[in-house]
Amino acid sequence: MSALISRVAHAETARSRNVDSAAILGALPVPVMLLDTENRFRYVNNAAEQFLGISAASLAQFRLLDLVPPDNPIFLLIEQVRDTEATIIDHDLDLESPRINKRGITVQGSPLPEDPGVVLLVMQDASAARALDRQLAFRGAARSVSGMAAILAHEVKNPLSGIRGAAQLLETSVAPADKELAELIRDEADRIRALVDRMDAFGEKPIARMPVNIHRVLEHVRKLAQSGFAAHVKFQELYDPSLPPVWANRDQLIQVILNLVKNAAEAVTQEITHRPEIVLATGFQHGMRVAVPGSTSRLDLPLFVTIRDNGAGIPEDIKPHLFEPFVTSKSTGSGLGLSLVAKIIGDHGGLIEVDSRPGRTEFRLHLPVVTEKEGNQ
Ligand SMILES: Nc1ncnc2c1ncn2[C@@H]1O[C@H](COP(=O)(O)OP(=O)(O)OP(=O)(O)O)[C@@H](O)[C@H]1O
Ligand SMILES: [Mg+2]
Repeated sequence: MSALISRVAHAETARSRNVDSAAILGALPVPVMLLDTENRFRYVNNAAEQFLGISAASLAQFRLLDLVPPDNPIFLLIEQVRDTEATIIDHDLDLESPRINKRGITVQGSPLPEDPGVVLLVMQDASAARALDRQLAFRGAARSVSGMAAILAHEVKNPLSGIRGAAQLLETSVAPADKELAELIRDEADRIRALVDRMDAFGEKPIARMPVNIHRVLEHVRKLAQSGFAAHVKFQELYDPSLPPVWANRDQLIQVILNLVKNAAEAVTQEITHRPEIVLATGFQHGMRVAVPGSTSRLDLPLFVTIRDNGAGIPEDIKPHLFEPFVTSKSTGSGLGLSLVAKIIGDHGGLIEVDSRPGRTEFRLHLPVVTEKEGNQ
């Protein structure tokens, strides 16, 4: 009780101390702007002046419409903030006009409760936006693999089954000393086949989607992991049972989670982690949206899944290339896991965020849920 009182007392002194909030706002290295009910600039801080490349004095004469064309999704965001009186975040917005040229920024719009209709905009080159940017590049990389995958699947699988069959025949007829060699050929043929099968998943086939219960998928993967490669790992599950189904391909989603859990299990095993632990969590995040490629519409991604481990973290030299194919720090790794994850999540219109430091690595997937349109199909 006394601790509580002292904390309150402390808060009072901090508030009563004469802090100039305008000065703080001005010094904030993040662009902040306030729009009135007609989208005129009522206030901009220094960072916003720099961001837009226009002085506060000039901006006072402008409406947002003078800077960006009316079909820009930012107007939709502003209207939604006014309608819902909630904070909305939009990723990967482009503000392009003869006056400004900003691409791939994150815009956060918030209402000002004491001033109805006024909207506070905060702009940033947030990590999510950067992650998205990178993820889009990875999709390109994954796509270049997809052509190769098709050729591999076609040209390698057939002769491979011949080699395997021949080796099997040899096993029964050769002298015992050579039998081992025949087995080696068969095992290696199996290994190549498994690799080719994984590459096959990069193909550009349309995906069949349906409502999927994300918790069943997570449970399935956890059981699989605990009965095999992650038997020594403690799992913690923090699920929000009220979440709606995701709009996804179940098998592919399993593949994604399995790859992430496998990486996590390998990470906590590699280094001496005292208590190897993987946390699987789900939740709802309002206002998370991305652009739909090739259109001006936005896709809501309200559901997130995180896979967190307490391993050594992603090696610094791997980080910039994390989702590219064939990038691996493991002697037996193929480096295909995460590029496949990026490809599948990209195909689903989702988003991946990564946050990694020694002792804490988190992969966060943002996924679309079943909307009314899909539910009625
Ligand atoms: N949870 C994690 N903790 C630390 N490093 C990670 C984690 N997840 C991925 N990495 C790093 O990213 C690299 C690429 O991962 P990816 O899953 O694509 O390939 P891989 O695991 O090496 O091989 P494969 O998945 O094909 O067996 C890994 O080699 C590892 O260095
Ligand atoms: Mg992997």
